[in-house]
Amino acid sequence: MTDPLFALRPWESPEVTSWGRLPMSAVDRRAGAVSLDGDWRFQLLPAPDAPLADAWSSAYVPGVWTMQDTDDLPQYTNVRMPYAEFPPLSPAANPTGVYEREIDVPADWAGRRIVLQVGAAESVLLVHVNGRPVGISKDSHLAAEFDLSGVVRPGARATVRLTVVKWSDSSHIEDQDQWWHGGITRSVLLYAIGPLYLADVTVRASYDGELRVDCQVRNAGGALPAGWWVSGDLDGQLLTQDEEFDRFNTEDDRVSDFLGEARMRATVPEVRTWNAETPELYGLTVRLHRADGTVADSSYRRIGFRDVEIVGRDLLVNGERVYIRGVNRHDFHPLTGRTVSYDDMRADLVLLKRFGFNAVRTAHYPNDPALYDLADELGFYVVDEADIESHDHAHEIADDPRYLNAFVDRVSRMVLRDKNHPSVIIWSLGNESDYGANHDAAAGWVRRHDPTRPVQYEGAAKRGWADPDLASDIACPMYAPLEDCVAHALSGEQTKPLIQCEYSHAMGNSNGTLAAHWAAIESTPGLQGGFIWEFWDHGILQRVSDGRPTGRAGAGLYDNGVAAPGQRWAYGGDFGESIHDGAFIADGVVFPDRTPKPVMFEHREIAAPVRIESFRHEGIVLGNHQHFRGLEWLSGTWELALADGRTLTAPAELPALCPGETVAVPLPFELPEDGGEAWLTLRVTTAEDQPWAPRGTDVCAPQVRLRAATPVPPTVVGGGRVEVDGEGLLIHPLLTLAPTLSLWRAPTDNDELGGMAARWRTWGLDSLVRKVVSVRRDGERVTTVAEYAGAVGVVRHCQVFTPVEGGVLVEESAELPEEFVDVARVGTVFETVPGLDLLEWFGRGPWESYPDRSTGAPVGHHSVPVDELFTPYLRPQESGGRHGVRRFTLSAPDATGLAVDLDEPRQVSVTRHRAEDLTAVRHHDELVPRASCVVQLDAVHRGLGTASCGPDTSAEYLVAPGVHRWSWTLRVL
Ligand code: GAL
Ligand code: MG
Repeated sequence: MTDPLFALRPWESPEVTSWGRLPMSAVDRRAGAVSLDGDWRFQLLPAPDAPLADAWSSAYVPGVWTMQDTDDLPQYTNVRMPYAEFPPLSPAANPTGVYEREIDVPADWAGRRIVLQVGAAESVLLVHVNGRPVGISKDSHLAAEFDLSGVVRPGARATVRLTVVKWSDSSHIEDQDQWWHGGITRSVLLYAIGPLYLADVTVRASYDGELRVDCQVRNAGGALPAGWWVSGDLDGQLLTQDEEFDRFNTEDDRVSDFLGEARMRATVPEVRTWNAETPELYGLTVRLHRADGTVADSSYRRIGFRDVEIVGRDLLVNGERVYIRGVNRHDFHPLTGRTVSYDDMRADLVLLKRFGFNAVRTAHYPNDPALYDLADELGFYVVDEADIESHDHAHEIADDPRYLNAFVDRVSRMVLRDKNHPSVIIWSLGNESDYGANHDAAAGWVRRHDPTRPVQYEGAAKRGWADPDLASDIACPMYAPLEDCVAHALSGEQTKPLIQCEYSHAMGNSNGTLAAHWAAIESTPGLQGGFIWEFWDHGILQRVSDGRPTGRAGAGLYDNGVAAPGQRWAYGGDFGESIHDGAFIADGVVFPDRTPKPVMFEHREIAAPVRIESFRHEGIVLGNHQHFRGLEWLSGTWELALADGRTLTAPAELPALCPGETVAVPLPFELPEDGGEAWLTLRVTTAEDQPWAPRGTDVCAPQVRLRAATPVPPTVVGGGRVEVDGEGLLIHPLLTLAPTLSLWRAPTDNDELGGMAARWRTWGLDSLVRKVVSVRRDGERVTTVAEYAGAVGVVRHCQVFTPVEGGVLVEESAELPEEFVDVARVGTVFETVPGLDLLEWFGRGPWESYPDRSTGAPVGHHSVPVDELFTPYLRPQESGGRHGVRRFTLSAPDATGLAVDLDEPRQVSVTRHRAEDLTAVRHHDELVPRASCVVQLDAVHRGLGTASCGPDTSAEYLVAPGVHRWSWTLRVL
């Protein structure tokens, strides 16, 4: 006989969202549950209806089989479905994992309801216990619970089989931009509760201290026994029964035999409210009593008192128009693919907290319940997003009634599960699924069930940012040009808060103009922030030898963003997939091992809670840029960096400042008369241990220039001599390659996907041919004129070499033809002798910075080993630049080496790689570092922008044609 679960062919039936799956509830049953995680018997079938084999292997639960040495490997696609079948169909080749194990059901569970919880399985889960069909569930990112009471016997052993079908009608609405996997991704649990139980608890805790707790009570046996009642306390403070509610309920006959409802209330005097800065939580215990007073069931959770509302075009948390400094976070791990532990989630949020983020969008599906507990505890505003993305077939599905049930099911189950988390401030209906009646149905359900939170959906919002009728209370575009956002806010037409659900695409070396976004947000009422795309570079650790995912054996096989020898970070195509979207999966602000990319430092500074507003005669004006707290949790040190190499420090007394206030504090130093250019930095750290950072953790380093540079031309002394070769190239004992003109950078992902690199190649900028035009010696001075010919256009380059005290002055000019409207850089490249391993400089640092991403790199004296200057972006590209460099030295351990003084702050990079080395390879492990240093000094360097997905850099960061001039002095140390 065909198994009834298989007979339904649920993998091709969108109407079947589940069978035998219990309703979702906000009552947390994790405490006291038995974990079924570990090794399960496993076999991978080629299709759901293929016969089982006799031989079993094993698989670790939770974990996807695609990362556990099966022949079904991860595949990455962005928009495209990986197969041709239209919704709701699946391909015939449909990997299906069968997981099986025994469970020992405790004898003392007799008389109780026994519930199996599968944390998440993708994409269809069929459950059998002791060979009997128990249930079906879909939605790869929510738990599914099944009542096993009638199927298992307390005190006996039972066999649980979980069949997971990879491709289904659901895959068409789980077409998120990420790796495709198959398997069980979250923990499996078993628990027991009594027949009389709390079916749901709904908490409303507002920032005026009013608490309301609504309980739903059921009895598994059927009718509720008479005389049950509920009690509750908030950290010991007893809640009071809402007698009016009870009376009304009884009169109205809403307390039926079947469903019991009860309401409790409390008023908390001087309530400590919850917000992302001070996430104060209280412990709420709810008890369900039998008539004799004994406790039948109880629930404990931490709650926070806070309000969220939209007033006009402002999103208010506790009445404050908070900025949303958000990031989009996927569940990702380089060793497990999608399974993340509690510690992983905590580490993600701790890192975000340390870098100034206060918000997370759970792109693009509900996360593990622990993520929300952590967000409550550490302080994050969460946009909780339902597991719906039908990107490839968006238009067909949005109005397809066969999928109506799935849309409402996914959204409502998320809301039912997460509604008591103070961190969740907005519900999202999903992502990139066009807009149709199915969305309106889901939105209608949410608005009725939870009127306390706004709903957002980008697909609806884009039909009209101000349209009140659409299923989005927030104008939440993705990658909207900043000018458009500002224009909307100034138009007088704005009706909703504008918070971009995705912006500043972090692919490769990116996030140019992030500071411009925030300057606009903080100065334009109506703009409130956004969510950077995205947190992770989803590089999977891969063994180079056999191309397989390294899996959990890879622990420790990476460090500082780089995979160990023999390993690499795989991206689309690396597992032999023919349909894939390449490195577009590597677009996060952290590397696959969670090492922060340089943009994180930019973000940290942009989010600085305390800032230097200005420098006036009465002193330094400090401002508190937080919404809810003072500066007590911070401590500071003043640092004065002078161009002559000195750095003075003094302890800083941070003033008592309310949010939004400013105050002038006296200048901490007598500014020395000499020393040249002077920069004052306030180094701010945590004053006490925080849950997310030990005391002394860097928070920000606001800076102000106290004195500008006065240029001192190098002294020309008689009797010097400059050597050039027959081509007019400088000969110097410390240089292995003479300074030449450079217009090319190894294209960044933005350069490639934005089309700039293709233009540069058409112009021939990657293979300019130098031809010397003239070499003229004029006394001690040598002038070399050369032409660099591209496929179109010729650049005339002139270098004037003059001996100066201790070295040589190089004055350069380059004239770019009109055709070269937008090039990567105009500058000088040269290479040094090996052994110069330390770079010390005065300029922005210490981390990588570029013209449109330099706010977070304070000007000062920095020192970094050459090998650590390069940023190992997954697909090698322009990397390692430092902006605003005035002077640098490159030295060997014995302090010999060279020094370069630049005429103006310039973009400089020192790495072990030529631009062509970087351009030639696809992965970091293919790079062979050179022994020499490749030094680039740029007169101008193009901004990074975010054109891989979204706007390019702004006009001020483009490199124009015409004449560029720059000069520098090279000296031997
Ligand atoms: C958005 C999408 C994300 C991701 C991003 C590009 O359109 O919502 O899931 O694909 O673009 O990286
Ligand atoms: Mg998409």
